[in-house]
Order: sequence, then C-alpha cells, then structure tokens
Amino acid sequence: MSRPEDSAVSSPFIQSPAEPANGSVNPNGTRKDFLSDRAASTEIDGIRGLMPLEGPGIITFYTPLSSNPSAGRPNPTTFPFDSITLHMKPPLGGGEKRDVELDGDLLDAAMQYGPSAGLPQIRQWLSGLQTHVHGRAPGNWTVSMGSGSQDLMSKAFYAVLNPGDPILMETPVYSGVLPTLRQLKAKMIEVDVDDQGLSATRLEEILANWPADQKRPRVVYSTPVGCNPSGCSASKQRKLDVLAVMKKYDLLMMEDDPYYYLTQNLIPSYFELETQVFPEGGHVLRFDSFSKLLSAGIRLGFATGPKDVLHAIDVNTAGANLHTSALSQAVAYKLLETWGIDGFLSHARCVADFYAGRRDIFEAAANKYLAGLAKWVSPVAGMFLWIDMSPAGITDSYKLIRNEALAKGVLAVPGQSFYPSGKASPHVRVSFSVIDLDKEAPEGFRRLAEAIHDKRKELGLE
Ligand SMILES: Cc1ncc(COP(=O)(O)O)c(C=O)c1O
Repeated sequence: MSRPEDSAVSSPFIQSPAEPANGSVNPNGTRKDFLSDRAASTEIDGIRGLMPLEGPGIITFYTPLSSNPSAGRPNPTTFPFDSITLHMKPPLGGGEKRDVELDGDLLDAAMQYGPSAGLPQIRQWLSGLQTHVHGRAPGNWTVSMGSGSQDLMSKAFYAVLNPGDPILMETPVYSGVLPTLRQLKAKMIEVDVDDQGLSATRLEEILANWPADQKRPRVVYSTPVGCNPSGCSASKQRKLDVLAVMKKYDLLMMEDDPYYYLTQNLIPSYFELETQVFPEGGHVLRFDSFSKLLSAGIRLGFATGPKDVLHAIDVNTAGANLHTSALSQAVAYKLLETWGIDGFLSHARCVADFYAGRRDIFEAAANKYLAGLAKWVSPVAGMFLWIDMSPAGITDSYKLIRNEALAKGVLAVPGQSFYPSGKASPHVRVSFSVIDLDKEAPEGFRRLAEAIHDKRKELGLE
C-alpha cells in the first residue's frame, strides 16, 4: 500500500524532482543516479504527504502552505519587530548613502519559518542572476539557499557520496571540505593542480588507469577561480578540457566558486560551459557565496544545478536546520532588489578592483624579499598567494613555520593543511585580504625571507 509521503508530490517548501531515466539524464536534466543511497532513499518527514491534500476550504491544524510544515509555527503577533532599516554605505564605485526599509510581507517572511530551499523571492532573483551571468536559460536546473556555500557543500557531499566512495579533488584543496569528507570516510583522490588549477591531463590519467576492481569516482571537486589556497584560475579552455574528461567518464563537477566575481575579467564558469559538452546539463553543481561580496557573517550561499541533487540537499536542510536564516535571506534580497542585477555586478566589479589593487602592492613586497627564494602563480582572482619555497630548498613548510618563521615572528598557513593525505609541502598560503599593506606585509615577507635563510644555513645550503 502506498503512503501519502511516498508519492512524488510538489510541495511549496521543497521541490519535487521529476523522475529521471535510469542512469541517464531525463528531459529536465536531473540526475538521480548521482545520488548516494542515503539521499535516494530519504524524504522529508511524513507531514509532507499532507501538503497536496491542502486546498480551498480545507482547514489545516498544522502549518499553512508556504512555510515549513514540520516546524511549530509561532504566532508572529508576539514578535517585537515592526520594521528594520538598512543603512547602506555609498556604493564602492561612488554615489550616495541610502536607507532601505525591510517591512511588510518581506519582514513577515523574514521573521517566520520558511521553505527549506530558501525564500522564493531571493531564489527567483538568483535564478535570474544565473541566467544573466552564466547564460543558462531556466529549465533543467534550480537554485537552493544555504547558510554559506560551506553548508550546501557539506550537504551535497552527503547527497552524492556513499561512505567510502572515491572523490576526485584538486590538490591543494580548500581544507574546509575535509571534515565532512573524513566523516564520510570518502576516498579522496588527489589531482595535482598546475598553474591553471585542476589539470585535465592528470584527471584523465587517473581515470584511464583506474583499477578495474575498484569503484570508480563519479564526482570531482574544484575551486576554479582564485582558488583557496593555490591562487590559480582555470581558463575557459581548461574548463572545456576538464568537461571533456567529465563527459568521457560521466562525472559530476562540484564547482566551488566563492571567488568567481573577485576577478577583473570574469571567466566563463563550468556551469556556463556545461551545455557545450552536455547539452542536457545535469553534470555541474555550482556553489556561489555572498561571503566575499556582501558579508561573511550573513552566512548566505546558493547552490545551482540538477534538481535531484538540490532536492536531496533541501531534504538534508529540512532535517538539519529547517532552512537558512530567513532574516539573512530577506536582508540580502532587499539589497539585491534595490541594486538590480547591474548594481550587483557593478558592486562585484568594485570588489574585484579593490582586491586587485591590494594584490599588486602585496605581490610587489613579496617579490622584493622572496625573489630567488620562492615562486608562485600571480593570481588573477581571489585573495591568496601560494608561495612555493622549493627554489630555496625547503621541502616541509610546516617545520619552517613552526620553527624558524615563528622565531622570526611571522606565521603563514603551511601547505600540508591543504592535502587530504597531509603530505609535506614546500608551500605556504598567504592572504592579501586584510593585512596592513604598508607595514605588516613587507615586514612579514622580510621575516619570512630571514626564516628561509636560517633554514638554508641549517640544511648546509648557505
Ligand atoms: C574555496 C572556498 N569554498 C567555500 C568557502 C566557504 O564559503 P561560505 O562563507 O560561503 O560558506 C570558502 C571560504 O573561505 C572558500 O575559500
């Protein structure tokens, strides 16, 4: 006998994906075959089954449509907020300060439980942004909100990996993904980057030589623009090369792109280029973040991609935290609505210019003190330099930082933190985001150079 919650019904708080064909892309571009066993068999709680029975003339003793029905919805009459005024700085590119009011229906939504995928207003706005920026017509993909892209990525790993599954990861890798992958006991396959980040050649090599008796990877993870930590950015051609390998081996790309806008010339994303290789889509799960553009503390990010996978993420959200802070979403929406897409893009360009200006000063200081001792890829995006000290004979930056560098009074993140295997690395990651560029940056590099010289003396290289 079928129960109400078993039926594939549409619900206002979570999208119900259309059924895909087995192991292939259905007309909606969804990919149920990418789902982990857990995600494929987990649905939202049983109350969901009641939702389709609601309608005109039906009195519901639980939560009316448009909210998250499992939550005990409080009566907003008791909430002490009447309106919220956002005092906005003048735009970075110049202009006036302005005040924006958060009130009426949007304030009501901000104060109440909401849909797990996010407030419809901001999801719609962001879908429009994705269409505008990445040229993807609406249809075979959707957008879900998360408490930062980190939240969405963690849930996405649960959605697409069974415990012990292999995952291909560009290395060095953003270390923030490691705790979840370790919890999942994922078999992390390191794919070393070159000066354009994830290497299609290396990816192909690994997949072509995959042992016949081992489960093949289905997922590849990359931060393609201004990578944290490598500072590398993949060109359009590089992304097309990677997509070609993905096509050959039927892979899903997790495109972790919080630095996408932090470059003066936007590079076409995997999400944009996907349709050149997979006309039906369904192979790129993209993560955007507001942390580097609006505020990190607002904790807002959004995932864009195949409906099945996003549905699985939303189911996880419904169980973990019901939904991302509706207040954060409403504040961001109000701002975005006020700016419009052009205003948002103009703000993003100003942010990119800001970081590019800092990078130039920072890199000049690095060159002054580290020339001959270290090398790095000059970043066209992001906020990181990945300093390779192997020209000076350094093989283990962790030891250098713990000993010689600390003794000189300078710290940077040792490279080994960014390898799942924890292998020794000659790199350190340094950031030009917030450091004082006049005094601290040059003095820090001077001290790092002294530390390297001390180490070289100890090694008998000087
Ligand atoms: C590569 C990368 N991905 C994801 C995140 C997390 O971003 P969010 O603040 O949106 O969770 C960061 C944060 O620095 C990052 O560097």
